[in-house]
Amino acid sequence: MRTNSASLSSPTATTAQSVTVPGEVPGAEIRGLKVVFQTPAGPMPAVNDVDLDLPLGTITGLVGESGSGKSTLALAMMNAVPKPGHIAAGSIRLPSVTDMTRLQGKALRLARGTALGYVFQASQNSLNPLKRIGAQLLDLGRAHGMEDKGALLRHARELCERMGLDPVRTLSAYQHELSGGMRQRVGIVFALILNPSVLVLDEPTTALDMISQRTVLDIIRYVQRERHLATLIITHDIAIVADLADYLVVMYGGRVVEKGPTRHVLQRAAHPYTEGLIAAIPRISGDIDRAQPLPGRPPDLLSIPRQGCVFRERCAFAIDQCSVQTPGLMPVRVTRRHDALEEDSALLDGQVAACHVRAPAPSAKVST
Ligand SMILES: Nc1ncnc2c1ncn2[C@@H]1O[C@H](COP(=O)(O)OP(=O)(O)O)[C@@H](O)[C@H]1O
Ligand code: SF4
Ligand SMILES: [Mg+2]
Repeated sequence: MRTNSASLSSPTATTAQSVTVPGEVPGAEIRGLKVVFQTPAGPMPAVNDVDLDLPLGTITGLVGESGSGKSTLALAMMNAVPKPGHIAAGSIRLPSVTDMTRLQGKALRLARGTALGYVFQASQNSLNPLKRIGAQLLDLGRAHGMEDKGALLRHARELCERMGLDPVRTLSAYQHELSGGMRQRVGIVFALILNPSVLVLDEPTTALDMISQRTVLDIIRYVQRERHLATLIITHDIAIVADLADYLVVMYGGRVVEKGPTRHVLQRAAHPYTEGLIAAIPRISGDIDRAQPLPGRPPDLLSIPRQGCVFRERCAFAIDQCSVQTPGLMPVRVTRRHDALEEDSALLDGQVAACHVRAPAPSAKVST
């Protein structure tokens, strides 16, 4: 886990966009990303004004309930948003690609897989049932101009071993001959075979039993360290990434509502939505009797508020301002009381939240 004390010495020392440590090498840089889906009511944003840094050598956990926009964000990183959606604004820089959103045709096909490895949500079911795993890996390599079949197979065998899979058996198997956990590990082999430096895994442990979950998470940690990847793990369950991620990013209604070093976000969540997610999980909230499901339901595309805070319908702390003004990500402060008269406040290292009450803009007057 890394912390950042230097870059947030004052509210103006950060753009409130970046929560990474100075000197960290960016693997992916997303700026101002907006993805809209065409609906009967017009174009609606599933991802709105998202900034995100994924530094090399770190794991970022992207969490939020179903429908928050997590998968749409991940698909946008591949420039693979399905119709009737499209990237309406923003840029996505990867180590070998200046802006993924601008690529098309052959350049885009080549960049997918080499610049960014992707393990799809439900990837256990995304393999071709009629072809052996090894043949599918060779197809993938060939599509990316890798003609050295021997080198590709050696790499595939090595990756299988890293995943705890028997290389000979796995590469000659059809998908139905593998368990769910094995198929998920094969999905990671596919994502890494072209040596990307950014790895995105969408719900990699959903639908796996506890032991397979643990194995897959251990493998993710291991390959991330070994290859110095910038890894993004998407999950609706904050407990999955609590031990694994260096950084946590919380999404709601298409917006990032809080992000920062995992330890800070878990210990002192600033955004009421993050608090709600944590309180719902006994293993993190620490008290099984007090674990509370988050009341209400997340919005869908048609019910996301156009103006003001996306969370206001479910928020117990909402004030008038929340209906009219969309909060931006601001540094989170913690107040320390020394005695009855004296108090000071300090910035929490690298943590930002979008909430008029919990992380107000420096000039804002909050009246409750
Ligand atoms: N292909 C699609 N067509 C229309 N709406 C979509 C499509 N894919 C996702 N959406 C909508 O975009 C929003 C975000 O979805 P998604 O990114 O899948 O969320 P998450 O991965 O966080 O569950 C949801 O309201 C969802 O209904
Ligand atoms: S901005 Fe307002 S509605 Fe949104 S989370 Fe903060 S207090 Fe709640
Ligand atoms: Mg999803």
